[in-house]
Formats: sequence, C-alpha cells, structure tokens
Amino acid sequence: MKVLITGGAGFIGSHLTAYLTFKGVEVVVLDNLLRGNKIEDSILDKITLIQGDVRDQDLVIKLAENCEYIYHLAAILGVDVVADNPVETMETEVEGTKNVVYAALKQGVKKVIYASTSGVYGHSAIEKSVDEDIMIDPRTSYAMAKRYNEIYLKAMYEERGLESISLRFFNVYGPRQDDRMVIPRFFEQALKNEPITVFGSGKQTRDFTSVEETIISLVKLTEISKGAEIFNIANETEMNILELAIHIKELTQSSSEIKLIESPANRYDYEVERRVGSSEKLYKATGFKPNTDIRIGLKNLHETLYQIN
Ligand SMILES: NC(=O)c1ccc[n+]([C@@H]2O[C@H](COP(=O)([O-])OP(=O)(O)OC[C@H]3O[C@@H](n4cnc5c(N)ncnc54)[C@H](O)[C@@H]3O)[C@@H](O)[C@H]2O)c1
Repeated sequence: MKVLITGGAGFIGSHLTAYLTFKGVEVVVLDNLLRGNKIEDSILDKITLIQGDVRDQDLVIKLAENCEYIYHLAAILGVDVVADNPVETMETEVEGTKNVVYAALKQGVKKVIYASTSGVYGHSAIEKSVDEDIMIDPRTSYAMAKRYNEIYLKAMYEERGLESISLRFFNVYGPRQDDRMVIPRFFEQALKNEPITVFGSGKQTRDFTSVEETIISLVKLTEISKGAEIFNIANETEMNILELAIHIKELTQSSSEIKLIESPANRYDYEVERRVGSSEKLYKATGFKPNTDIRIGLKNLHETLYQIN
C-alpha cells in the first residue's frame, strides 16, 4: 500500500511516517521543511521525501498517484506564528486542502485524513467536556480555516463521494516537538534554569494527548471510518498551565522561578479558559481512546529525551 503524507516531516507527521513505514507501507512525504526535517535518519532511506509546497497543485496531483490514502497534516501553527501570519496560515490551509481534495478525486484516492484542531471549539468548553456535536466557536484564522476545511470535506463527500476523516487533535505532545508549543518550551526553560514563563493566571486548562496514542487513534480510524466524519482525539483530562509548569520544574529538579506574565494581546488562544475533549465517538468507533496520565507522559518524555541529551 502507498500513501501520501503532507507535512510528514513535522512533529506528528514524522511519527506517522515512522509508524506506517514500520508497518510496511510505502510512504511519500510532501513537506516544505519550514520547520526543518523531524523524520529520523533510520527512516529516511525507506521513504520518498519531496521538499515542496502543498499549495502547488500539479505537485500534489503527481505525488498522489497510486496512493490509497492522503494524510493531510501540512499547516502553519503555533500561537505566535499564526498571530503573526494570519493570511499565510489561511492560504496554506485552504489552498492546501483544495489541492489535496482535487488530487484525491483525480487519482482515485480512497480517503483523505485531515488534521483539524480542538481550537475550533474556542470558548465552548466552559462547562463540560466538548464532544463533536457541541456548538463550536473558532476565533483565530487558524481555527476558522480548519473548520472551513471540515465543512468542505463533508461537502466533497456529499457531492463527489470522497471519503474523509477530520481529526480534532487536543494539544499533542511527545518527542521531536519544538518550542512553538508549551511543553517543550517549559522543559527548555527549566533545563536552562531560566524563568518558566506562564501567560495570564496559568489557570487555563488544556487536554494533553500523547503523540503515540494520537497515531494509534488515527490509524485505527483510517481503517474503520466511513463517509466524512469528524472525531476528537483527546485524552479527556485537563491540567492547568501553572500546574504543568510546576510539574516540569519538579521533574527536571530545576531552580527556575515560575513567572506569571501578561498574555500578549495577539495570544488569543491563551484566553480560552478551558479545553477538554470527549473521545467517546472515537472509542465507540474503534474500541480505543488515549488515556496516558499526563504526569506519566511527561516523566517518560523527560527520561527518554531530555535526560539523555
Ligand atoms: N501539535 C498539536 O498539538 C496539534 C493540535 C491540533 C492540530 N494539529 C494539526 O496537526 C498537524 C501537524 O501538526 P504538528 O504539530 O506536527 O506541526 P508541525 O509544524 O511540526 O508540522 C507541520 C508540517 O507542515 C509543513 N508545512 C507547513 N506549510 C507547508 C506547506 N505550505 N507545504 C508543505 N508543507 C508545509 C511544515 O514544514 C511542518 O513540517 C497540523 O495540521 C496541525 O494544525 C496539531
């Protein structure tokens, strides 16, 4: 079996690339290497890595030839990066997804698996853990574009019969993530004994999901899901950002002070007070859902990654 992974050299993409290659799947990666190449050296000679842009329609069509699935992960992300580049963020999402759909239809690809985001929920999770049917509330250009693509993919199933899955990831963490995201940033600050900087009160919660369980969920859904469905991939537990900082400080035995700083005006995402998801739909479909305790996940990450280096 052959698949195309856009954004396959990124954090989540490199884990998916490794997993599928290990399973004997022929993997073609399309990535503009905006964030460098996170694919492990031992995998590189077993895959085809094309440095290129998902906005290049002819290239996407060519690479989708004979592919059973397209995993579409190429995106611009990171709270600051998106806030500074809203237009390019949206263009990459909208143009990229349009090209992936066009290529899938032209080349007879069975299914598109799209990386959406829990960011589409915005402030919706104030009182309860969000399921896929709750009223959504995307506020950033990134989240709006993700929601647009979810709707577009549903329409392409209704109009053209193209099967798809939109996956709403909840704060994925694990090896090879870079410091655009909060967990690697806190580890880096703690290991350098620099202040660990927490935006706002630190009381805002997030639902942290391990990359390994994210990949398992994604692969299981690829095999099972029919039509054009949306699934949360959430750990169903919350931790507030201040607790996260304290925990990482303790794990690393750091002398860093934990510093609460005002959230910059463009960091809209930090004003979302609560984000926790329900993975019931995922569980009903696959019999699996992520459940790694974040404290265990952080301990493993620290032991396997940061202490060795
Ligand atoms: N990490 C998370 O917690 C999280 C949460 C929600 C959703 N997501 C989504 O999951 C997907 C993967 O995220 P990630 O954490 O691995 O991020 P990442 O930045 O590590 O990976 C994205 C990859 O896309 C590539 N890319 C960017 N623009 C491109 C373009 N125009 N053409 C080709 N490649 C391009 C980048 O070089 C990068 O390798 C993204 O779609 C993201 O929006 C991630």
